[in-house]
Amino acid sequence: MTERYVAALDQGTTSTRCLVFDHQGRLVSLAQRLHRQSYPRPGWVEHDAEEIWEVVRRIVPEALADAGIDPSQVVALGVTNQRETTVVWDRASGRPVAPAIVWQDTRTADLLPSVCRTLTEDEIHERTGLPLTTYFSGPKLRWLLDTVPGLQERAERGEVLFGTMDTWLLWNLTGGVDGGVHATDITNASRTQLMNLRTGEWDDELLACMGVPAAMLPQIRPSVGGFGTTVDPVPGIPVAAVIGDQQASLFGQTAFEPGDGKCTFGTGAFLLLNTGQQVVRSRHGLVTTVAHQLDGEPPVYALEGSVAVAGALVEWCRESLGLIRTPAEIETLAASVTDNGGCYVVPAFAGLYAPHWQPQAQGVVVGLTSYVKQGHIARAVLEATALQTQEVARAMQSDSGVPLRVLAVDGGMTANNLLMQAVADLLDVPVVRPMMAETVALGAAYAAGLASGYWPDQHVLRRQWHRAAEWRPQMTCEARAHELERWSRAIELAIAWGEPPR
Ligand SMILES: Nc1ncnc2c1ncn2[C@@H]1O[C@H](COP(=O)(O)OP(=O)(O)OP(=O)(O)O)[C@@H](O)[C@H]1O
Ligand SMILES: [Mg+2]
Repeated sequence: MTERYVAALDQGTTSTRCLVFDHQGRLVSLAQRLHRQSYPRPGWVEHDAEEIWEVVRRIVPEALADAGIDPSQVVALGVTNQRETTVVWDRASGRPVAPAIVWQDTRTADLLPSVCRTLTEDEIHERTGLPLTTYFSGPKLRWLLDTVPGLQERAERGEVLFGTMDTWLLWNLTGGVDGGVHATDITNASRTQLMNLRTGEWDDELLACMGVPAAMLPQIRPSVGGFGTTVDPVPGIPVAAVIGDQQASLFGQTAFEPGDGKCTFGTGAFLLLNTGQQVVRSRHGLVTTVAHQLDGEPPVYALEGSVAVAGALVEWCRESLGLIRTPAEIETLAASVTDNGGCYVVPAFAGLYAPHWQPQAQGVVVGLTSYVKQGHIARAVLEATALQTQEVARAMQSDSGVPLRVLAVDGGMTANNLLMQAVADLLDVPVVRPMMAETVALGAAYAAGLASGYWPDQHVLRRQWHRAAEWRPQMTCEARAHELERWSRAIELAIAWGEPPR
């Protein structure tokens, strides 16, 4: 019998990957390419949606060819993506009307008060599960409608379409101007701040409040279900799942039950806890989001602690500072000293996300003395990720009332032992990593494979989870308390620095 496979397309912030998995959930093939990051002004981050689509057109055939797989052997494709990044394109030409505004972009900070025209900030939060901040798509879309000449009118006439990256790719994969499917899934829709979390539908009052014409919005579908069939670049593959990257990694970690969670360390760090069919409101600065929805079933929800800058700080040390040549070198440099030498880096490049939600905060490096060397800075860079994770984990425990017993992790930064040890130390829980660290793509593949019957149920997937590494806490209580106290002071400084001058 011919072997059959499931493919995943993982459109991330920095790169896009196509991965092929077999029936045991083993990786068979991977093709990956970077795309350009544009920072045209302080706080602005843009992507070229056409460039990303061209990357997809190259890597999908590449991944199949590398493994010698015929497209007919791929039973389903799952699409997963960087969330919130906002694209508007012309329905007739298929061309974006402006650069995509990336989730980290803070250009909408000044526009936020004007967004609350007919609903208050609290009402928006109550309906969407999200605080009103620069992170989510609604204000980014408002900015485009305000700024691109004639766009509002064209949107009202249905001439232009809105989408997050999943929608942009799905539309192009399924035919683009020739009948492309204009849809999104409920996890991505839940990040736009235009969807009502309880109904899973676009909310007319939210649309009116943000001035967004319904004619430009994609249809919201369950994450695990049907999204049409590919036309380009490889025709005939059913797109059986669409799911936001952090929700995909929750799925890939097989965190299917209420109380299951994970933290992914990539460009940012994202801690998600499955709360089942319950919409849990956070009182400690987390967001409420949709974890996934199987076709014909109610949505499963999650609490999320989002940290905007984790691996992005390592990347900044490499690209902008030239402190290291590869991300892995940050560990070598950090290991050249035994502690941070009193130095702390708060990477508030996109303001501060959970649990602070301070869009105006700016990055600071504190505790500098002549004693501080490169190694101390490298350590402070890694500890910044661990300390931010500690903050969201603490908020998660306060909200859920359930103590964290173990933290399941994944993502590119989990290759860093020093960081993973710091996470275990600062959270005071064991940290475990599965064999398959590409859980974002794996989750999209699992979702697509479930939808198409390639895998019968979630139990089978759970049995495919195998532990590859574990880190146990070693830090003393006193040392931990000291680090947390220093960190909260550094955070206060980052917030104060970004405040308008008095
Ligand atoms: N050994 C390492 N130590 C520290 N950071 C690392 C290491 N290896 C990779 N990183 C960082 O991890 C990030 C890459 O991780 P990953 O591939 O999971 O992210 P990503 O999926 O590309 O992010 P996105 O999807 O947002 O593009 C980069 O920011 C990189 O700097
Ligand atoms: Mg990613």
